[in-house]
Amino acid sequence: MRMTDERSSVRVTAMCGIVGYVGGRPALSIVLDGLRRLEYRGYDSAGVAVVEDGTVLTQKKAGKLANLEKALAEAADPGIAAGPTGIGHTRWATHGGPTDRNAHPHVSQDGNVAVIHNGIIENFSRLRAELEATGVEFASDTDTECAAHLLAGEVRALRESGLADGPELLAEGMRRTVRRLEGAFTLLAIDVRVPDAVVAARRNSPLVVGRGNGENFLASDVSAFIEYTRDAIELGQDQVVLITPAGIEITGFDGSPQEGKEFHIDWDASAAEKGGYDYFMLKEIAEQPQAIADTLLGRLSDRGEIVLDEVRLTDQDLRDVDKIFIIACGTSYNAGMVAKYAIEHWVRLPCEVELASEFRYRDPILDRSTLVIVISQSGETMDTLMALRHAKEQKARVLAICNTNGSTIPRESDAVLYTHGGPEIAVASTKAFLTQLVACYLIGLHLAQVRGVMYADEVAAVVEKLQSTPDSLRGLLDSMEDVRALGRDLKTASTVLFIGRHVGYPVALEGALKLKELAYMHAEGFAAGELKHGPIALIDQGTPVVCVVPSPAGRGVMRDKVVSNIQEVRARGARTIVIAEEGDDDVAAFADHLIRVPATPTLLAPLMTTVPLQILACEIASARGHDVDQPRNLAKSVTVE
Ligand code: F6R
Repeated sequence: MRMTDERSSVRVTAMCGIVGYVGGRPALSIVLDGLRRLEYRGYDSAGVAVVEDGTVLTQKKAGKLANLEKALAEAADPGIAAGPTGIGHTRWATHGGPTDRNAHPHVSQDGNVAVIHNGIIENFSRLRAELEATGVEFASDTDTECAAHLLAGEVRALRESGLADGPELLAEGMRRTVRRLEGAFTLLAIDVRVPDAVVAARRNSPLVVGRGNGENFLASDVSAFIEYTRDAIELGQDQVVLITPAGIEITGFDGSPQEGKEFHIDWDASAAEKGGYDYFMLKEIAEQPQAIADTLLGRLSDRGEIVLDEVRLTDQDLRDVDKIFIIACGTSYNAGMVAKYAIEHWVRLPCEVELASEFRYRDPILDRSTLVIVISQSGETMDTLMALRHAKEQKARVLAICNTNGSTIPRESDAVLYTHGGPEIAVASTKAFLTQLVACYLIGLHLAQVRGVMYADEVAAVVEKLQSTPDSLRGLLDSMEDVRALGRDLKTASTVLFIGRHVGYPVALEGALKLKELAYMHAEGFAAGELKHGPIALIDQGTPVVCVVPSPAGRGVMRDKVVSNIQEVRARGARTIVIAEEGDDDVAAFADHLIRVPATPTLLAPLMTTVPLQILACEIASARGHDVDQPRNLAKSVTVE
């Protein structure tokens, strides 16, 4: 949802979670279940609408879903609880005050149609002016409300032209409506006179369909309906989908019959529950060994070679590559930075890592021989999607690393390697990061193998090490009590710095990012060698500095340099928290707190060294009383630029 006032240039954009249900059961409880699973996408307000007995019944509330649930309980309306067709929405706004009145669903002035929306209606001001000129009075400041009034008008006009009430009338009304909209949107709508249908439209915003038995579902992602069905349909751009208890009908915006791509979800509802942990984030941290094992599953031949079945690029395509760009945002970008070290070392190809939001604005030089690797957990990040499209326009080949089946980024890429991390519900990325690293390693090894720059036994040796990481990680996770205690101890720190070299540098960035987003503390990651060029001035008596020490078994000089950097900060009063591998005894003398990780080959070390930093951030945040799973101002899936 976005509110925009083009006259005053006040723009409020949002990313949201969307659910729709039609079938034999009361819609409300199914929609609320779905919203609970989607709340990570936004938690500024929530609302539901149900068709029951010739009326659209709505309830909506600013704040978290719990506020809506309380309002529903207080209202105790038997109609809203019973209706078999419903939609629900949970919203996130970048700025502007979320209120009850701006919460979705929005109902048309005639009370016939309720609409929920994720995305941006760019021509909102013009449409609003047109509607107001015809006497429509707006009840909110949102762009979404335009869609509700437009749809109601189209449906009315179709009825007047003689089209009989029924699902098809609603679908045609939606097609006519979306043809008038500019921008990006997923819209879901219900109509009082079509009580057994939900219609949706999708352009550049996520939407998947769940196929049930005598019931069907729509949602921003499959976790919303996984409890009810694991059969899903991925939609293309510019499609309208109509669900009724009896079926699913997909058309283009022009009405032409179209098809979606059916897929089966290979994880179950329990994967989207907390399973006894206080937070999803803790559960997801604990799931990392399994997530790595699952991401490796089926990707290694009996001879230890890498097999990437889902990659629809020929070996010749990969041999023709002369340059690689890795593009991503946030944590996924940090994974890309690790990948650069691995790919340049193994494949011997130039590799640049770019923030997706910056990529296309600097006129990057790309052609058919450029391989662009986009990394995205959600597969919906708008910055990354726009960078992908820019790369494709310039004929580069795009390979996506993604965790979300049916999402836009993999669908628009030439090839995809799915990380099999399962659903990541906590807003802060943890298992997605480690599985992205694994996917990057696999791609690097695959390229090296196909291009003949690594011998099979060299590839096999790395693969063997990768396969042993889940066990090492389990051991590491069992020994995190001291890190938790340290976290509680650091809860009053005002700043925490992180330093590392080589692959330890992106780990430092990731550690700082986790702390910022969860604990709302000043935290910064630096290349350890850069510190003396300025940031060392930040260090004061007792400033905590987390130091990621490279393995002494790698380039000894690199490890020794980091040890020197630790001494430099210590000499200036820093409290050093040193992450070093087992057996590296010399570092103990420079550590106020020593965190041991299992010995791992240099390039694979981030699979270990990141984990204590995730736990540290989680513990500090919870000690400071923050909602670890839903940090303020954030959303899981950033579908605006
Ligand atoms: C941080 C975090 C974000 C995401 C970023 C990209 O914990 O989760 O920085 O990594 O928004 O998201 P995806 O990977 O979905 O494209």
